[in-house]
Amino acid sequence: MSDVVRVDIQDQVARVEINNPPVNATGQAVRQGLLDAVAQIGQAGAKAAIVYGAGRTFVAGGDISEFGKPPQLPHLPDVYQAIEDSSVPWIAAVHGTTLGGGFELAMACAFRLAQNGTRFGLPEVNLGLVPGAGGSQRLPRLIGVDAAIDLATTGKMIDAAKLQELGGLDGIFEGDPLEAGLAFAADLPARPTKVSARDIAPVDSDYFAQKHAEIKKRAKGQSSPLDNLKAIEWAATLPFAEGQPKERQLHLDLRDSAQSQALRHVFFAERAVTKPKAIEGGTPLEINTICVVGGGLMGAGIAFACLQAGYQVILIERDDDAAQAGQDRIAGLIEGGIKRGKISDEKAVKLRSALSASSDYAASASADLAIEAVFEDLAVKQPVFQSLAAHMRSDAILATNTSYLDPTQIFEGIDNPARFIGLHFFSPAHIMKLLEIVKLPTTSKDVLATGFDLGKRLRKVGVLSGICDGFIGNRILSAYRRQADYLLMDGCTPRQIDRAMRDFGMPMGPYELQDLTGLQIAWANRKRQAATRPADERYVRIGDLLCEAERFGQRSQKGWYQYEEGNRTPQDDPFVTDLIIEEAAQAGVTRRDFTDQEIVDRLMAVMINEGALIVEEGIAERDLDVDLVKIHGYGFPRWRGGPMHYGEQIGMDKVKQAMAEVVAQSPNSWRVAGRLS
Ligand code: NAI
Repeated sequence: MSDVVRVDIQDQVARVEINNPPVNATGQAVRQGLLDAVAQIGQAGAKAAIVYGAGRTFVAGGDISEFGKPPQLPHLPDVYQAIEDSSVPWIAAVHGTTLGGGFELAMACAFRLAQNGTRFGLPEVNLGLVPGAGGSQRLPRLIGVDAAIDLATTGKMIDAAKLQELGGLDGIFEGDPLEAGLAFAADLPARPTKVSARDIAPVDSDYFAQKHAEIKKRAKGQSSPLDNLKAIEWAATLPFAEGQPKERQLHLDLRDSAQSQALRHVFFAERAVTKPKAIEGGTPLEINTICVVGGGLMGAGIAFACLQAGYQVILIERDDDAAQAGQDRIAGLIEGGIKRGKISDEKAVKLRSALSASSDYAASASADLAIEAVFEDLAVKQPVFQSLAAHMRSDAILATNTSYLDPTQIFEGIDNPARFIGLHFFSPAHIMKLLEIVKLPTTSKDVLATGFDLGKRLRKVGVLSGICDGFIGNRILSAYRRQADYLLMDGCTPRQIDRAMRDFGMPMGPYELQDLTGLQIAWANRKRQAATRPADERYVRIGDLLCEAERFGQRSQKGWYQYEEGNRTPQDDPFVTDLIIEEAAQAGVTRRDFTDQEIVDRLMAVMINEGALIVEEGIAERDLDVDLVKIHGYGFPRWRGGPMHYGEQIGMDKVKQAMAEVVAQSPNSWRVAGRLS
């Protein structure tokens, strides 16, 4: 008998326990164990079989580590077919997260019972796949085409109550799955038609074409949502015996696809990112109360995120009016949460009572951690920390949310430097997933580990960064923008560059994005960097000239594009095109045409190069840290795996070649990373 699948037959009822920690994944041993169980139970002439999971969940999916290898016998669809075809009716009694292969197993059973609160889903789409064991073929037969498309093309989860409402369950229970299964088996209803043999209600002739258009728009270049739609269309138009092998073949083909490899890379990276070497041996300190200094755009978002994660929050502002304004801003975010149904009235009361605001630093005394988000000015930030240090415990953690200043300077003169850290949030701070956790040379492992712990509680992706101008994310962004400006000078238009990068998969191109967020911050940065910029580096001043002409982007209705009142659609502006041509002529540049591919190659080359430099310098520990920063903070398409993974995928030789062209185009302007030179 298999270790991971145990069969116990008593009173003609078989108990089939899957025990493959941590999540009872359908690895080879589980598949074989289940297949053997079908035979054993059939021979024993049992009247019912109950399959359930040991531990905290039923089967939560496939064994992803098997995906890179050739599939091993027995194949999952055959195992599930054997269960569905068995002379003995199988009852799935599930709990926890019944996902992917787990949900497919439940659908192959004659009956499905779920513990209250169990969550169901087909997350294969998130790994660039379609289900591989009949999920896309049985689900529409179980709950209808609409609901099946909704689940399979998004990977979202629904709870047991919702699945029952959709007709996918035979019962919901509280308590132990096996006990519930036994109670059900004691009074077994007549066996219903197999799910795979059920009819699907016909849909309108243009139904799938419409869905295709809808999903394609939402998928932004990712192909797996459309693959899942296609598989469900097979279910709706073909008998199960034809649709199922097609689904299986597509699943196997997709395992080798670039998108699935990239998405799996991100899946593993998101697990590895929480464990950088720098926190090994560190123990997170207990944080209950957080003091947020500055209740502006960032501070209010940070405070709101902390409240939602269950912390007590003390907001400090520069005077009473500002404290009130900050508190109002946070109250507005809570209201917004209520309106969107994300926060209950009861929860809102709790959040409000966990918040206090003051202009007196004495209020910070009880906090375990302070996060500063005041103006981006050393002369403002330094006194803030002096005041905090005067009132807070000497071991309380001090964090700055600065984007560009050097944290070492910000904390100058404060005692106990082991407690200094950077916590760089992204705007809007309560929504954006990325949190750069910045290590100073003095930061202790415990304090760093606390930063990661905080990130986890805030449900953010915490990425470790060392200190450099812009940390990981903004440093790469500025290289990217600099190269985009070189391309402008050499022959492109903002429109063409934006289109090329959108087609690559970015949510927006670099120029439309600058217009959206405003041109001033980058302008201020360029001015700040002017003193240290190498004299022979190529400098494009078009952005500066736009700012000097008070073209700051959408909010001034002019930037890289122009905008009509109340309309955010960028319109080409001859002012900008003329300016580009003039500047190029003045610099003696002969403009030429670039293909979209050349634009992508060059912009990606500088991104990858900057990422490689960042790793080389030890600012990031690993390539995967760079990948996650770009994906979670800058909208880099997840299905491309992040810039570093993308570089590996297209081949570093190609990147090297593109980087050589970049350097030839703008000599003396780039430092090239070791692995690209
Ligand atoms: P903001 O101007 O919206 O808010 C700053 C707040 O700090 C204001 O409410 C102001 O009254 C308050 N403040 C100023 N001096 C103070 C003092 N001495 N004591 C207490 N409060 C004081 O600025 P924003 O955008 O929220 O930025 C704050 C910080 O966050 C800056 O360091 C910025 O670089 C950083 N950051 C900003 C991002 C953004 O997208 N805006 C993104 C990531 C970081």
